[in-house]
Amino acid sequence: MAATISVIGAGYVGLPTAVLLAESGYKTYLIEIDAGRLNAIRKGRSFFYEEGIDALIEHSLQTEKLIPTDSYEVAIPKSDFIFSCVGTPDNPDGSPNLSFVFAAAEESLKYVPKKTIFIQKSTVPVGTGQKIVQLLNRKRNKHIDYVSSPEFLREGTAISDSLWPDRIVIGGNKRVAEKVLGLYKSIEKNRDKIVSRIGIVSPTGHPTNYFLTSLNSAELIKISSNAFLALKISFANSIAKLADHTGADITEVMDGVGTDRRISRAFLNAGRGYGGGCFPKDVSGLISSANEFGVDIQIMTAASDVNESMPGYIARKAQTKLSSLTGKRLAVLGLAFKAGTSDARRSPGIKLANILSRNGAKVSVYDPKANHEAEADLRSGITISNSLDKAIRGTDAIFIATDWPEFIELDFKKVKDLMRGSLIVDAMNALNENAVTHAGLQYTGIGRY
Ligand code: UDX
Repeated sequence: MAATISVIGAGYVGLPTAVLLAESGYKTYLIEIDAGRLNAIRKGRSFFYEEGIDALIEHSLQTEKLIPTDSYEVAIPKSDFIFSCVGTPDNPDGSPNLSFVFAAAEESLKYVPKKTIFIQKSTVPVGTGQKIVQLLNRKRNKHIDYVSSPEFLREGTAISDSLWPDRIVIGGNKRVAEKVLGLYKSIEKNRDKIVSRIGIVSPTGHPTNYFLTSLNSAELIKISSNAFLALKISFANSIAKLADHTGADITEVMDGVGTDRRISRAFLNAGRGYGGGCFPKDVSGLISSANEFGVDIQIMTAASDVNESMPGYIARKAQTKLSSLTGKRLAVLGLAFKAGTSDARRSPGIKLANILSRNGAKVSVYDPKANHEAEADLRSGITISNSLDKAIRGTDAIFIATDWPEFIELDFKKVKDLMRGSLIVDAMNALNENAVTHAGLQYTGIGRY
């Protein structure tokens, strides 16, 4: 008989994980304590935008393989495997807040059956697993195995990333890790059937690598992967500032640099910097965790500082082009931290809009999916537009802060007619510069022109 699984937390990681396990034939309890999120899932909808996920929720509810619940008591006693996918927001000092991680383990512990495997998917600082193992060992009459299996999916491509992962990492006892690997392999076996329901194009030639490691190594693999990607982005942004001063074009530079296979072109796109629920907190989490062990990790402090500087840098660049920001009418397009998601956490577009507004500009903003989520973080006085046309009408300059296709493929002749000025600030370096200038508009990117 197929195993029964509990997934704790219906967020960006937990929801795709639960749905894919359910679609692979496992009876999967999805434990979510937020009533709003739970009700949405029960109606077949995710509380965030993610391509393909609603169709899979709906199907797995129909087959009754997915069982959304707010009750540990209902789900945990029946579970052979428990995936913990709760949030790890950061504390004001940058260290990760692990209260949800420990609460999920404590709460599970109350109801675990005699034997179960607890799999940590939340991103935690190295050493956390060992502390949870101590906690789980308190139940002497039960046998709870613990492994770390960090998640590498990206928001916006969560389903595809989970079905065709670059690697699966499982840290802990090898015998236990093999059992957990069996679950992932079973998702892999079912992936053609799953994608046929949602029409996601499968990547070709994409082998998955499997790593069975120690507990601490698995935790550190996850945090180091995100830190290194953040480092690459901040490196590209540092060179972009130099390119701005020297007339070089950062895109040409990184195309040249990135063809070196030892380096690779990925994550060398300069622009308004990284945002979202992962990179900013994973970088600050790594810094605080290293400090705790007395390890100097200045390289990450520098990466974080460069990232923080980018929205201000872009505002100053625009200020130079416009003489002044005061009284100017400016549109910021893109409030999600990247295209393909409604997630506006730590969004560079929001930060940019707030800086422009603080400097006296009259700012309108628009995002196809994240308007609502961004609202709370925008300064009062900023106008949230419900259409692209409304956002850009009568503006002196437009800032592209997220590379949504509808921004990249804008009809710039029409844009020119709607604007009163002519400056297009490509804060993603994603536009076709010729399309902008041919329409009679002025183009500027980050590290280019
Ligand atoms: C990231 C990791 O990629 C993923 O493996 C992990 O599981 C979670 O964190 P995600 O936060 O979804 O995923 O977004 P990602 O696509 O990595 O982008 C992060 C940020 O970096 C975005 O704001 C993006 O716009 C920015 N970015 C990315 C750049 O500024 N330049 C680049 O070259 C690439």
